[in-house]
Amino acid sequence: MRLPALTRELQVDYTALSLVDAEKNQFRYKLEGYDKGWQEAGTRRQAFYTNLGPGNYRIRVMAANNSGVWNEAGASLDFSVAPAYYQTTWFRGCVVLAFFAALWGLHRYRLHQMARVFNARMEARVGERTRVARDLHDTLLQSFQGVLLKFSTVKYLIHSRSDDAEETLDRYIDQARAAITEGRDAVQGLRSSTVVANDLARAVTSFGQGLTADHAGPDCPELRVFVEGKSQDLPPLVRDEVYKIACECLRNAFRHAHAKRIEVQIGYEPRQFRLRLLDNGKGIDPEVLIAGGRAGHHGLPGLHERAELAGGKLSVWSQLNSGTEIELTIPAAIAYPKPKTRAAKTAGVPSERKRSE
Ligand SMILES: Nc1ncnc2c1ncn2[C@@H]1O[C@H](COP(=O)(O)OP(=O)(O)OP(=O)(O)O)[C@@H](O)[C@H]1O
Ligand SMILES: [Mg+2]
Repeated sequence: MRLPALTRELQVDYTALSLVDAEKNQFRYKLEGYDKGWQEAGTRRQAFYTNLGPGNYRIRVMAANNSGVWNEAGASLDFSVAPAYYQTTWFRGCVVLAFFAALWGLHRYRLHQMARVFNARMEARVGERTRVARDLHDTLLQSFQGVLLKFSTVKYLIHSRSDDAEETLDRYIDQARAAITEGRDAVQGLRSSTVVANDLARAVTSFGQGLTADHAGPDCPELRVFVEGKSQDLPPLVRDEVYKIACECLRNAFRHAHAKRIEVQIGYEPRQFRLRLLDNGKGIDPEVLIAGGRAGHHGLPGLHERAELAGGKLSVWSQLNSGTEIELTIPAAIAYPKPKTRAAKTAGVPSERKRSE
């Protein structure tokens, strides 16, 4: 027997065919699928149930005659209560799926927002750097060019004041030249990435080789640089921060760790970019580690600041006499932006090829 959905209340009437002193008949019943044990009903000939859920049930009834002898076989009736649509397994499955889909959607939306905020910040920085570069070029460089020209003209007017005048003039010309070179360097540094295009590994390796040369000797640690995954073109400003983080970590490892081996791992993973620097040296003093740096020294705090500027996360693990491991991760949305976004982002920043011309 199949009862309709949402049947919650049930009344079952039963009786026994014992004609001798029928009022003294005793009953007990049990609803399989609901009751844990038998319900003693006494002489009552009705069973009531409320709050039934959907499912299969069997109602069993036993009776005893006026002498108290129970009929163990009893009688039974099978029935089921149909589920409402929201009580079905597929519906619940869909709700769970929808919940996880919504969570996933939220996560994607949050990543997208983070990337948007980061890109906006990046664009503002690029704009600011380009503005400073332009101002430097239009003011500092131009005025120095003018001074240089003036001095060169003055040189023709001092025939009368012989040697010392010429010497002074030469000094000024040298100074002006030095200032122009300095200004040019500043403009170069502001306008473009300092890292050779798309070759972070090479830039880091060559920086490490410089440190190896500086620390040449029997205690010089062995440096290895590994690249995992297909090398990708990071946005210039992200690349700069990553490169500077790698340089500071390498400097620290060479200067402080007394390590035998230093390893740099650059991972272009599908979901994120990862930079890991490991050394097997003496480890960072726990007090310095907890404080996040040593007073008056800016290397370690700078690492975290740069990681944030690059839109990534930086973690430092270190244990005394076991070494240090520093890991930077940057989500793929920031590290490998889609070509269109990247084109917009690099607008105003000359390419490295242009720079090296
Ligand atoms: N790889 C390492 N192994 C052992 N100790 C380290 C390592 N890196 C950093 N330290 C310790 O942490 C301290 C703080 O490092 P941090 O880079 O902030 O300063 P610094 O290198 O001393 O100076 P600077 O400001 O020039 O970077 C160091 O003085 C050193 O004691
Ligand atoms: Mg340092």
